[in-house]
Amino acid sequence: MDIYRGLAGVNVDTSRICFIDGERGELIYSGYDIRELADKASYEEVVHLLWTGALPTQSELASLRDAIRPSFQLPGGVLDLLASMPKGTHPMAALRTAVSALAAYDDNPDGTDDANVRRIGTALLAQVPAIVAAFQRLQAGNDPVDPSPDLTIAGNFLRMVNGEDPTEAASRVMDVALVLHAEHGSNASTFVARSTASSLTDVYSAITAGIGSLKGPLHGGANYGVMQALESIGTVANVEQYVLDTLGKEGGRVMGFGHRVYRVMDPRAIILKDVSEHLAEESGDSKWFEMSLEMERVMAREMEKKGKQVAPNVDFFSASVYRMLGFEKETYTPIFAVARTSGWMAHLYEQYADNRLMRPRLVYEGEKGKTFVPISERG
Ligand code: CMC
Repeated sequence: MDIYRGLAGVNVDTSRICFIDGERGELIYSGYDIRELADKASYEEVVHLLWTGALPTQSELASLRDAIRPSFQLPGGVLDLLASMPKGTHPMAALRTAVSALAAYDDNPDGTDDANVRRIGTALLAQVPAIVAAFQRLQAGNDPVDPSPDLTIAGNFLRMVNGEDPTEAASRVMDVALVLHAEHGSNASTFVARSTASSLTDVYSAITAGIGSLKGPLHGGANYGVMQALESIGTVANVEQYVLDTLGKEGGRVMGFGHRVYRVMDPRAIILKDVSEHLAEESGDSKWFEMSLEMERVMAREMEKKGKQVAPNVDFFSASVYRMLGFEKETYTPIFAVARTSGWMAHLYEQYADNRLMRPRLVYEGEKGKTFVPISERG
């Protein structure tokens, strides 16, 4: 019997959202190369592209922005819930819980018709960043900050985290990060979201499940792991020993490297490497970029020796980029969730529109034919 552990290489359905060529390092959102989108498109334009298959006209973009705007204001009950969480709560646990709670404040949380699912998706585009920002501030003992009607999703997110409007440059870097993390085919969290929706349960359940999956260190949690490693290493001179020690351990993984699909460097990592270099030059703080470069160099050498195709993935250079944007490492994975909400939703539209229950099988290796012994007679 064929077994595909980790569902590697299994096609579960067709999709028009995203194409990845792992051999060539190619990533396409609805027909457009990621490099061109990162260079020229705003995150909101990319959302429209992922959700409709086409880039928006000026008026379509304005309508999308108008529809998103009111949802930056969270229900009071959700803010109270976030405020009630103990200090040190994992920000992804807080996000997962708050997104689940949003269903309680929605008049029609369960409708899976396209219009209702898109209404919820549009609101989540603002609610997810608002939750991440509010939670971070509450944990630091600060009040949540109101959004500005003039700012984009990236701009408002930065404003609601930092308590002041971002510079044009910071807003643009955030926007590029959101574009790069928006979508990536049938990755673990997207598959989980689609799979959850396939029982025709509600959007909130599917997105909550996706957030839970993204949190893991082998998926979105890796960007946190990269910064944790860089902080523990401390200097460029210590990088080589860290990599050798990590690879020397049984099952040792260097976070931010490797991918199920890419055999070459992830195209998103190539773009983020440039962004990281640029921010290092601008800020005069090149430590994080230089440590990352050294880690890339040592990993390339060690992986080549072992004959393994393990290259930097999207999480690798995003760590130094977020640090130079001023984020604490605890916020890195939530930023991934802010961006990926659009990708998850694009997939939910497809899933609900032409659903089939996800129900793979497992090959049973246990015993059969056991004789039942009453509890009073068990030794
Ligand atoms: N460090 C060291 N060795 C690695 C790494 C790594 N980061 N990634 C893969 N390998 C080795 C692995 O040891 C294995 O060797 P062997 O064949 O001798 O057992 C080989 O490469 C193939 O790895 P695999 O685990 O079988 O591959 P996979 O497709 O099941 O796993 C992965 C993919 C992403 C879970 C894995 O590369 C990994 O653990 N990376 C570190 C965590 C990480 O950065 N995750 C982010 C993924 S990309 C963006 C996202 O989804 O968030």
